[in-house]
Amino acid sequence: MPLKPLKKAVLPVAGLGTRFLPATKTMAKEMLPIVDKPLIQYAVEEARAAGIEQICLITGRGKTMLVDHFDIAYELEKTLAERGKEKELAALRADAVLPGSVFSVRQQVPMGLGHAIWCARAFIADDPFAILLPDDLMQCEVSCTAQLADAYRETGGNVVAIEEVPRDRVNRYGVLDVAEDRGRLVSVKGLVEKPPIEKAPSNLTIIGRYVLMPEVIGHLARMEKGAGGEVQLTDSMAKLIGTQPFHGLRYEGRRFDCGDKAGFLEAQVAFALARPDLAPAMRDILKRYG
Ligand code: G1P
Repeated sequence: MPLKPLKKAVLPVAGLGTRFLPATKTMAKEMLPIVDKPLIQYAVEEARAAGIEQICLITGRGKTMLVDHFDIAYELEKTLAERGKEKELAALRADAVLPGSVFSVRQQVPMGLGHAIWCARAFIADDPFAILLPDDLMQCEVSCTAQLADAYRETGGNVVAIEEVPRDRVNRYGVLDVAEDRGRLVSVKGLVEKPPIEKAPSNLTIIGRYVLMPEVIGHLARMEKGAGGEVQLTDSMAKLIGTQPFHGLRYEGRRFDCGDKAGFLEAQVAFALARPDLAPAMRDILKRYG
């Protein structure tokens, strides 16, 4: 059977963002900007650069602003046009999404990442789908999700983006049990969510980018609780191993953990330095604090 094209992505955005209080008291953490763009928009742009046509946001209470962000701000556009603010208007329109391409569902209770993905089951239906965790901000020449999409077409199955981390940090991630390390691609014989350091099968960890087959939903539906008492996506992914191809992809690029204050600040610097209009000023600033 020919491989189904990858056209759907799921973005879990129901988290409370407690690590960024008080900034996130009334604002979704995914609306926090890196330079001048909210985290959610980076994730949507990355998905679209991979040929994704339909996006489902898994939201929660107090997070409707994330859905509003992808609507047309008619009054704002009209005012900008009347004032001749062409540049600002173009910036607003550049990332407009096609009508009917952004969906949303609510995760009513915070039961974990696996439960959040299960909430999108009607959207996913029988299609392969990407997952992007917007807290993980990627700086890649080729969209990280596009790199995963290529690997999906190559391997015909599940692929997760991976990176090596120092041993003492493996307990923060989903960790690969490696069957065969072929460099760019690693075939997987097991996955463990946040293992104790001494029990981790490797130091190859999953970052917040996945391409999964729809069969994962059947495993998630059992709602088995794992690490931290939550329904873990990693546990259900592990159940696909042996029945479908499952690989880790050493992606090309950099990841910033924007769920963490230091990672968020580093991303501001890295993304400002990558902008020709801001790089000189940012270099001056860094010299002053060097
Ligand atoms: C989630 C996943 C974990 C993955 C991580 C990447 O954990 O459960 O497997 O390694 O994202 O950012 P969280 O960061 O939500 O605790």
